Amino acid sequence: MKVDLDGAKILVTGGAGFVGSHIVDQALAAGAAHVTVIDDFVRGRHENLSGAVSTGRVEVVDDDIRDAALVDRLTQGCDVVFHQAALRITQCAEEPVRAVQVMINGTQNVLESAVRHHVRKLVAASSASVYGEPSYLPMDEAHPFNNRTLYGAAKIANEQIFRAYAEMYGLPYVALRYFNIYGPRMDIYGVYTEVLARWLDRIDAGEAPVIFGDGTQSMDLVYAGDVARANILAAQSDATDVVLNVGSGTETTLRELCDALLRLFGRQDLEPRHEPERKVNPVRRRRASLDRVRAALGYEPETDLDAGLRAVIEWRREALCTP
Ligand SMILES: NC(=O)c1ccc[n+]([C@@H]2O[C@H](COP(=O)([O-])OP(=O)(O)OC[C@H]3O[C@@H](n4cnc5c(N)ncnc54)[C@H](O)[C@@H]3O)[C@@H](O)[C@H]2O)c1
Repeated sequence: MKVDLDGAKILVTGGAGFVGSHIVDQALAAGAAHVTVIDDFVRGRHENLSGAVSTGRVEVVDDDIRDAALVDRLTQGCDVVFHQAALRITQCAEEPVRAVQVMINGTQNVLESAVRHHVRKLVAASSASVYGEPSYLPMDEAHPFNNRTLYGAAKIANEQIFRAYAEMYGLPYVALRYFNIYGPRMDIYGVYTEVLARWLDRIDAGEAPVIFGDGTQSMDLVYAGDVARANILAAQSDATDVVLNVGSGTETTLRELCDALLRLFGRQDLEPRHEPERKVNPVRRRRASLDRVRAALGYEPETDLDAGLRAVIEWRREALCTP
């Protein structure tokens, strides 16, 4: 089911978060008449939506997707639901009961409402975490579920439940397996920040970045604007009942990322310090195969690492200056 976003009514769960807020911006740019955001602000930030809210076409509901009646009311009349609300991988490990409530029961609330109100397309965030440790690279969508985390388990369950709802009720959906997303509005404040945010702090303070391990661990770094665009394309396309990778298709090692940051800051004089690897994220390598998403959505990553990192550095400067 293709949805023309011009004039459409949209719900974005987790819409005050990093990716969700970029989806809100791009949906407005595509002509959405009204966007409702539901976010309980466990990690979302009002600043992420300041531009969007100023259009007068956005309503922000500070509440929880675990409230089925509320989700149902907000879904009424919506053409598209972008489902982004989730807990971070680390928080899932710390609060497993809440993780299942939010990521499984909360997602089911979204699905039930989408079916009841005949939503024309559900576009949902899955994750490359479902793949776990790579059996081969690049990882295509047929790669086995080597995941061993509760977060990844919830994402796998979500994908399976989407498929079941498509089968039972004909609900049109696309699930997108995001790889390692970075960009403006990434978390630079909280306790669950990524390595990139910590390095930015250190380099900015004139300190050498710390690399845990030998620096050969790799990621597929994909720019947030590209991920949001994949969501918009998924809504606008005929694609349904499918899971698709969303990455850059490029492997970047920790060392390469660190060197790129030092170069962009003009601080190649700072020699990264190596410390023993911590078992926080045991996945050693990641690279997405984009064959399926290219064919299904015509998605192509547009922002390369240098341009994306420059945008992050600029945004971070402004964000840290704003009280
Ligand atoms: N950032 C990445 O690298 C990455 C990679 C793979 C998948 N994902 C997935 O993409 C989606 C968006 O991630 P993100 O990076 O923007 O994270 P984020 O934490 O910035 O966004 C998630 C949002 O959901 C909200 N939320 C959490 N629990 C909620 C609840 N019970 N009710 C309502 N809102 C709730 C949070 O406040 C937050 O604003 C998530 O589903 C995440 O699992 C992200």
